Amino acid sequence: MVKTDFGPPKYLDMMSDLCKRNYGKWKYHEVLDTGTLVHVAENGEKLYTVRSATPRLMHIDTLRAFCDLADKYCNGFFRFTSRHSIEFLLEDESNIEPLKADLHAMGYSPGGVGNTISNMLHTQGWIHCHTPAIDASGIVKAVMDGVFDYYTEAKLPARLRLSLACCLNMCGAVHCSDVAIVGIHRVPPKVLDEKVAKMCEIPNVVAACPTRAIRPEPSKKSVVINDEKCMYCGNCYTMCPAIPIFDPKNDGAAIFVGGKVSDARHPAMFSKLAVPYIPNEPPKWPTVVQTVRMLIDVYAKDAKQGERYGEWINRIGWERFFKVTGLPFTDKHIDDYIFSIPTFRSTATFKW
Ligand code: HEM
Ligand code: HEM
Ligand code: SF4
Ligand code: SF4
Repeated sequence: MVKTDFGPPKYLDMMSDLCKRNYGKWKYHEVLDTGTLVHVAENGEKLYTVRSATPRLMHIDTLRAFCDLADKYCNGFFRFTSRHSIEFLLEDESNIEPLKADLHAMGYSPGGVGNTISNMLHTQGWIHCHTPAIDASGIVKAVMDGVFDYYTEAKLPARLRLSLACCLNMCGAVHCSDVAIVGIHRVPPKVLDEKVAKMCEIPNVVAACPTRAIRPEPSKKSVVINDEKCMYCGNCYTMCPAIPIFDPKNDGAAIFVGGKVSDARHPAMFSKLAVPYIPNEPPKWPTVVQTVRMLIDVYAKDAKQGERYGEWINRIGWERFFKVTGLPFTDKHIDDYIFSIPTFRSTATFKW
């Protein structure tokens, strides 16, 4: 077939022969330890997976080192998961321990399999995106350092998926993770009239606002924002760089809990707001780290075996959740948005 540079290559081209042979014919998998899985095919062939967290943004030298490990131990085959873990796919069981030793020597620890925390799925943050309210990789590094024992030791009642999105666009799977951090803006964007007139398509900016908070201001060839209606989503800034929404003092993180995708024992669930606001505290984000640690510690102690975060809260009730975590329940937890009630009253906050 002719090769073009459009779209991803065909997935089969990237698979090892063992994977191709057993495509669609896998019988079961088992957790060998917190960093290792084995998949067993119908014909008895086995594929071992060694998983390790990565920081997502990686130096090319690190990638080359990973490639060398893959050449050495698994015929050059590895993959990245959607939660930014690297998984080495081994056919020879005797390579597992030497590979792990090499990973440790590089400063990477196998983990995240079974009843552990996952690596944090996260977004682009200050280094790359235009709308973040918080950083991504910086917070992730700090939080993972703070809860690392839960990554390498299986001491949770069930698996716990972590994620972070640096704004409400939510490129991270915040709504369906057990514990999640979201960057939030808390003040309306500033309209730079002169620049708006030169840089932006007014109808597009007006149409970009989900709450209809923006109307044209023809005398200035600009727009005005109704602060009452604005929900600080930043959509208008995406359409028009002359309406910046950053605010170093007011931007920060919210924490959501109780979401999941799995419907193994209980249907999938959306997360709800646990902590409305924590200010930006780079470079180590101590309050975010302590809060996530506390949320995991309390769950580890209180939940029943096999119970996911949201299932645990559903059993004990939200009232008790706020009690056992010591988190204050505030007016910010309550959805009091009165404009466009039928469409927007379906948020992650509590109704009244
Ligand atoms: C040979 C004739 C024309 C050509 C080649 C032309 C081409 C274009 C192009 C390339 C766009 C941009 C589309 C986009 O951004 O996706 C555009 C937008 C537009 N055109 Fe035309 N056009 C022509 C005539 C007209 C006429 C006669 C009118 C009105 C009487 C008109 C009204 C508009 C409007 C309102 C827009 C949208 C501007 C916006 O983005 O808000 N065009 N046209
Ligand atoms: C009573 C008459 C009209 C009403 C109420 C009306 C209303 C609207 C509204 C609500 C929008 C959308 C603004 C937005 O979402 O950004 C719009 C866009 C637009 N209208 Fe009208 N309009 C009227 C007449 C006209 C006429 C007579 C023309 C042209 C001859 C026209 C051309 C346009 C164009 C070009 C756009 C921009 C589309 C785009 O690029 O997004 N309109 N109008
Ligand atoms: S979550 Fe928002 S700020 Fe972060 S990468 Fe996505 S769009 Fe950009
Ligand atoms: S931040 Fe969002 S809600 Fe506020 S004006 Fe911009 S688009 Fe509208």
